[in-house]
Amino acid sequence: MAWLIILLLCVGNSSARFLDYSYIHNSSPHLEDRVFSLLVRLQLEQFYDTLLLYGDDCVFHSTSRRLNVSTVLVSSGSCNFDWNFSSLTLILSCGPEEENETNYETLVKLQLNRRLVYLLGVTKPHSVCERYSQKEQYNIAAIAEDFDRSKTIYACRHFKDPNIEEVSLLDSKPVFIEQFRNMQGKPIRTAADLLSPRSMIYVDAKTGERKTTGYVANLVNTFAQRVNATLELEVLANKLIVKEILGMVENEQLDIGITLESSFRMTFIDISSYPYILTSYCLMVQVPAKLPYNLVYAMIIDPLVLGIIFVLFCLLSVLLIYSQKMSWQDLSLANILLNDKSLRGLLGQSFPFPLNASKKLRLIFTILCFASIMLNTMYDAYLQSYFTNPPSEPEIGSFEDIGSYNRRIAMPALEVNGLIKTNNSHFREIRVEDLEIFDNMPEVYKLRDDFNLSYNYVVTGDRWRSYAELQTFFKEPVFYYARDLCFSRLIFLSVPLRRHLPYRHLFDEHMMQQHEFGFVNYWMSHSLFDMVRLDLTPLKDLSRPLAYTPSLLMDDISWILKIYLAAVVLCVLCFLLEIGVDMWKRRMNFRNQQVLST
Ligand SMILES: *[C@@H]1O[C@H](CO)[C@@H](O)[C@H](O)[C@H]1NC(C)=O
Ligand SMILES: *[C@@H]1O[C@H](CO)[C@@H](O)[C@H](O)[C@H]1NC(C)=O
Ligand SMILES: *[C@@H]1O[C@H](CO)[C@@H](O)[C@H](O)[C@H]1NC(C)=O
Repeated sequence: MAWLIILLLCVGNSSARFLDYSYIHNSSPHLEDRVFSLLVRLQLEQFYDTLLLYGDDCVFHSTSRRLNVSTVLVSSGSCNFDWNFSSLTLILSCGPEEENETNYETLVKLQLNRRLVYLLGVTKPHSVCERYSQKEQYNIAAIAEDFDRSKTIYACRHFKDPNIEEVSLLDSKPVFIEQFRNMQGKPIRTAADLLSPRSMIYVDAKTGERKTTGYVANLVNTFAQRVNATLELEVLANKLIVKEILGMVENEQLDIGITLESSFRMTFIDISSYPYILTSYCLMVQVPAKLPYNLVYAMIIDPLVLGIIFVLFCLLSVLLIYSQKMSWQDLSLANILLNDKSLRGLLGQSFPFPLNASKKLRLIFTILCFASIMLNTMYDAYLQSYFTNPPSEPEIGSFEDIGSYNRRIAMPALEVNGLIKTNNSHFREIRVEDLEIFDNMPEVYKLRDDFNLSYNYVVTGDRWRSYAELQTFFKEPVFYYARDLCFSRLIFLSVPLRRHLPYRHLFDEHMMQQHEFGFVNYWMSHSLFDMVRLDLTPLKDLSRPLAYTPSLLMDDISWILKIYLAAVVLCVLCFLLEIGVDMWKRRMNFRNQQVLST
């Protein structure tokens, strides 16, 4: 009896197993082996550590269990969560209609992943490729039901005709290739903002085509060359051109925008590339004016220095008075303040040297002579250097006191909005009255390019580079890059890319390689040269130097002579008054004596 029960149990168990196998895995063990070896091969081609399985039940389910990778099963066809798992994911789909992903995040993150589709029945592989390419998914391969016999993998080749390549399981040809490495002349839709020197348009003399150059345009041009694509350049003439390009990229009307978007404005990281340029974002401030020559003399009269000279003068006078007779006998205020030897000595004039001077007196004369040489050469050097290069008026020290320098900051509205949106602390320090906001972006840039002195400007470090270079041709620099007045010392500038751009990774890779090779630096250093070549900037002095810079005129020092004249007149008056008083006193004396004698 017990034997019978055990036997029945065994039979029941194995039949259940058999049923289980044939019911759930309605595929031959042979097919499963083949699929398993395909999956192993794909893992060798490019490593994956996660499988994402769409569909209810097919050969992939049983095979995936044999592989030592984690598997995510999505039988409903769409994840209800964001894809937070590994990016090294292979997507398996039990049929071309099984993957109906609606989760946006997951779609974006898994756009470039490899997909293997199991085809049931009569589905044609090339229609599968088309169906996926409509969804902008290009890394597709399919196997049919008879895979165990045919050993054929149908790999989609987007740019080839026919769009299918049959790869045998035993072939060494790769199943998945980077298709966008050669785009076979397919167009890339772009539009350039034409804000020099980032992108500049010109007509090629040989072919008569319109082309772009500049350090952003060159990046896109070289990319198109590299992937063998053609550039379809849309020319927009609009004063809100940057905003329009960003809008078109967002609406998927453009693939790549030839412009730069700053980290201040960036709303979606998924419509821009890797940061292309890392730079600072500061004010471009006018170089403060030089002091006029007629104020230079007043500049060098420093009250403290004058005070020290006066104290020195008094000390020397006292010493001279004492050491002449070695007594304080002659000490009086008049002798100290009107000491002619000390005065003449300090002014570097000659003065009588006593014949039998004592050693102490000689020592004091030596000190006097030394002080005189120091003082005279110091003031001489001071004055002459200021006359050759007058000192400047003070520079703007902080964002708050921009208003006190009579120059407002001209800014495009787009940049103002970006700064407000990011709650930039420096921007909040600026008073609203000190800002002049322009809706028309190219207009501000035009004023800035012309070095118009009506405003101060805002500029990024990369753009400043060519301004600085241009200024080397000027007689005198007009603007300087205020490194203390920066909204940000590190901003990222990225190229806007369409959200579902399937070759985004190639573009990022290309960009980084251009940096590595030093091309970006080279393009940037050449930008001024390009601008001059394309007649976008004149190679001339825009600093509008004054034709005649007046040096010191007799007019400027006439006030000194006038004061001198007034002082002399005052002296004469005093002298006359003194004589008058003396004569009056004498007459009174004389009269008194006459009265006494009578
Ligand atoms: C994935 O990440 C997002 C945001 O970080 C989070 O909201 C979501 O819950 C995560 N999903 C899973 C399945 O962990
Ligand atoms: C901006 O930042 C300041 C302090 O840094 C904070 O007090 C203020 O609430 C912020 N404003 C916004 C709109 O985030
Ligand atoms: C500078 O800009 C102001 C205001 O836009 C304009 O009136 C002035 O003519 C410009 N100056 C020069 C030299 O172009």
